[in-house]
Amino acid sequence: MNRILITGGAGFIGSALAKRLIGDSNNYVVVVDNLLTGSLRRLPARAQANWQFIKADVNNFDDISAIMTSFQFDYVFHYAAVVGVQRTLHHPVMVLNDIQGIRNILNLAKNTGVRRVFYASSSEVYGEPVELPQNEETTPLNSRLPYAIVKNVGESFLKSYHREYGLSYTIFRYFNTYGPEQSDDFVVSRFLHHALHGRDLVIHGDGLQSRTFLYIDDNVDATITCFQQHRYVNDIVNIGHDREVTILELAHKVLEVTGSTSRIVHHAPLKEGDMRRRLPDIRKMRSLLQRPLVSLEEGLRKMVQAFRDAS
Ligand SMILES: NC(=O)c1ccc[n+]([C@@H]2O[C@H](COP(=O)([O-])OP(=O)(O)OC[C@H]3O[C@@H](n4cnc5c(N)ncnc54)[C@H](O)[C@@H]3O)[C@@H](O)[C@H]2O)c1
Repeated sequence: MNRILITGGAGFIGSALAKRLIGDSNNYVVVVDNLLTGSLRRLPARAQANWQFIKADVNNFDDISAIMTSFQFDYVFHYAAVVGVQRTLHHPVMVLNDIQGIRNILNLAKNTGVRRVFYASSSEVYGEPVELPQNEETTPLNSRLPYAIVKNVGESFLKSYHREYGLSYTIFRYFNTYGPEQSDDFVVSRFLHHALHGRDLVIHGDGLQSRTFLYIDDNVDATITCFQQHRYVNDIVNIGHDREVTILELAHKVLEVTGSTSRIVHHAPLKEGDMRRRLPDIRKMRSLLQRPLVSLEEGLRKMVQAFRDAS
């Protein structure tokens, strides 16, 4: 039996991973979350006996130490973080406090025999792009904002705990992931919900800033393979799509898929935090998935379906 901790497990990506891991009766999963942006509605109804939820703050040592000491986990997925462009820009001190959570997790992992820590880093560590596509080994990191700096520091802590104490890790650099149950803090969900309710789709600036959009199933499938097949141990993996899409194109695609007549309106550009382009080198991720990625159109259709099924 694998004893697994998922921090931030009531969040969008953490809960999708939790559901997949719980589906395997060989795993016992403990989901920890302080419910800052998480919701218990994302977790399964309490039918299976191989998981539990504990409300706790990973940045509080007493909270998380009691849990990690008593369960003695084999694997930890550290996904808890303050997220969302606006929230992280408005609460930089709260963002920086997440460094304490990373230290708590790593100290406790080292002392309780954890075999590998999986860390949710971010494409934000690359900052404003120095080169494209962005490669895990060769592209210099250009992180400047607190959220990106915390992820960068987190990566450095993982590498250092490995070097000094032999604690194994895998760092996932997530580029935009989207899917049902994502909060409206993120652009795909926000556009889709606004389109379905006939509200304006608001773009900051000209909309020519580009992103890539990965459907949640591709994210989770790559993670599960990495975990089950012991791949990319003590390594970094970009997790993202390799099709670049401008925010304006995304808005049009959302209108097309939903059949909405909402307007696209342009507001002033954000003063900071809106990188011009992002594009990952995903050769490592493709070697995990070994199947085609879900296209943006297909992913949006799945989201619309999930939305209609739920209402
Ligand atoms: N969604 C993306 O496209 C994306 C991109 C890059 C990186 N990430 C990273 O992936 C991880 C998951 O993000 P998400 O999109 O699922 O966001 P999310 O907000 O849905 O999930 C984060 C979860 O962490 C919880 N949390 C926050 N601080 C906590 C604390 N101190 N203690 C316990 N729980 C805490 C929140 O309540 C929430 O449930 C985060 O680390 C995020 O930085 C996500």
